[in-house]
Amino acid sequence: MAARSHVRLLVKLMIIAIASLERAALCRAKTGQWQLLLNSTGVVAMHMAVTHLNTVIMFDQTGAGPSSYRLRRSSASGRRCVDDSSEESCYAHSVEYDISSNNIRAMRLETDTWCSSGSFLRDGTLLQTGGYGNGSRRIRHFRPCRDGRCDWVQSETAMSSRRWYASNQILPENGGVLVVGGRRVFSYEFVPKLSSTDESHDLPFLHQTYDRNGGENNLYPFLHLSSDGNLFIFANRDSILFDYKRDKVVKKFPQIPGKGSRSYPSSGSSVIFPLEHGNKFCKVEVMVCGGAATGAHRAAGHGKFLKGLQSCGRMVITGDEHKWKMEDMPGPRLMNDMIILPMGHVLIINGAQRGSAGWNNAAGPSLVPYLYKPKKKPGSRFSMLKSAKIARLYHSSASLLPDGRILVAGGNPNQQYMFENVTYPTELRLQAFIPNYMDRKYHKYRPENLTVETQGDRSVKYGEDFTVRFWLGRRPSKAVEFSVYAPPFTTHSLSMNQRLLKLSSKNMVRDAAKGWVNITVKAPPSPNVAPPGYYMLTVVNGGIPSTSQWIRFIHA
Ligand SMILES: *[C@@H]1O[C@H](CO)[C@@H](O)[C@H](O)[C@H]1NC(C)=O
Ligand SMILES: *[C@@H]1O[C@H](CO)[C@@H](O)[C@H](O)[C@H]1NC(C)=O
Ligand SMILES: *[C@@H]1O[C@H](CO)[C@@H](O)[C@H](O)[C@H]1NC(C)=O
Ligand SMILES: *[C@@H]1O[C@H](CO)[C@@H](O)[C@H](O)[C@H]1NC(C)=O
Ligand SMILES: *[C@@H]1O[C@H](CO)[C@@H](O)[C@H](O)[C@H]1NC(C)=O
Repeated sequence: MAARSHVRLLVKLMIIAIASLERAALCRAKTGQWQLLLNSTGVVAMHMAVTHLNTVIMFDQTGAGPSSYRLRRSSASGRRCVDDSSEESCYAHSVEYDISSNNIRAMRLETDTWCSSGSFLRDGTLLQTGGYGNGSRRIRHFRPCRDGRCDWVQSETAMSSRRWYASNQILPENGGVLVVGGRRVFSYEFVPKLSSTDESHDLPFLHQTYDRNGGENNLYPFLHLSSDGNLFIFANRDSILFDYKRDKVVKKFPQIPGKGSRSYPSSGSSVIFPLEHGNKFCKVEVMVCGGAATGAHRAAGHGKFLKGLQSCGRMVITGDEHKWKMEDMPGPRLMNDMIILPMGHVLIINGAQRGSAGWNNAAGPSLVPYLYKPKKKPGSRFSMLKSAKIARLYHSSASLLPDGRILVAGGNPNQQYMFENVTYPTELRLQAFIPNYMDRKYHKYRPENLTVETQGDRSVKYGEDFTVRFWLGRRPSKAVEFSVYAPPFTTHSLSMNQRLLKLSSKNMVRDAAKGWVNITVKAPPSPNVAPPGYYMLTVVNGGIPSTSQWIRFIHA
């Protein structure tokens, strides 16, 4: 009898154990899908940016030898390119990808854009600055067009300093851009120049954060424009609040705790959290995630790949109290891209677990994207999403698309295009990561047919009300939010100028029979909150985003 009841108990316990294991497995179910869009973009997407005409600009470096996009005619001489062409100008190094047709076309770069920077100007033109060699002081413009005939235009004027591995911030006041840092360049400059005699301005902070013997570790500084008009600059492990109008450091923030470094070639990443109408856009918080261990760059040179940093730090940069709050990602990571999603969550994607940035300096691709929910309780903010199958290490990139997918491209830790006999070959496949919020089961909650009613060209002045109209087959959730997203210029794990704002709304009118909703949304109050230019407007209904529409904020 006793034996039998023991057996019964054992069986019962086993059933409970199996059930809880299953529940645990369910909890661990990794959401999201991966979609292969193209087997080859022809050109490594070392740099990537989404234009307001729903195309994506991708480019690498002209000095990398032949790309996989062979031109029919040499871009330099116009001569026919022969099949075994060794002529450099017979290969494209920049392409434009059309999101809806899934096609690419070649574009022409005159000088080398290797490890350069960029930002969208207020009219939607992509400004691109610097690079390497004969490209290091160049300024290039790409003005998006609908007929597929536009191309890069290189400016006659040059920058004052060579900017290789610099970062850009679009400025709120004059439509210009600030370009900060670069290899062995400890200064910043305005593009265009403020006056004909204006040159580069020394920035001692870049000297102070420079690891002379440890692989630099302060290139591609993280820049975030605070809503008070000052610029947050983070390099290596330190950060300042900088008044670029007066060339003055306003604040020096505490050093981020922990060892290692966060900036190139240690290459963690950073975001500015969504700015919200609820606090009048006055609270600004930033986050830095990942990076490389102390000495990782040198160790990688000897074939030893040190474990990357697992920690993130977040800090409020407005107010008077500044303290990094640290938390751990599910794993160590560097060369990670950080993308703000329409509801304000942060996607951490691409990169490696060990080593440093640079050619063949990393190992252990980070295939699992992480989702970070900033407003959840500490300890429950991170989750792991559906794993990728393609390694995206050095020179890869990722960008949020207006339809809610994340375009993922590039990766090439090799000096040239190499597809054989290397651990991590040149990666030309183009993918989209499709987050769970796009799942069919959420379609009924998804606002559709979003339109913005503005005068003429989708432009809205600061502080003005505008009408948004959309269709939803059911009553909207109490939590309907309106977000606008500044499309970044992405390279080397930085999404320059990326920011998301949550705007206030009122006067919702719903035609219950037909499902149409009209609502009044208020534009951001000032260019410090949202520098002028195009933004992706999204309606988020109970966490489920609509497809975005472009809207432009302009000065009165
Ligand atoms: C990529 O190539 C594979 C193998 O040749 C093929 O089966 C697949 O259809 C291609 N995918 C795309 C998106 O072109
Ligand atoms: C820039 O340099 C590259 C490679 O060094 C060369 O192929 C190209 O012709 C140069 N372009 C100009 C405009 O000098
Ligand atoms: C790769 O290695 C094999 C075997 O050594 C060799 O035959 C082949 O040519 C190499 N491929 C390239 C692109 O170097
Ligand atoms: C929304 O737009 C789609 C595509 O343009 C169209 O087919 C559909 O009928 C529209 N929905 C409504 C409710 O008008
Ligand atoms: C919503 O806006 C549309 C377009 O401006 C207008 O025709 C319609 O009457 C409005 N509906 C309501 C209920 O206000």
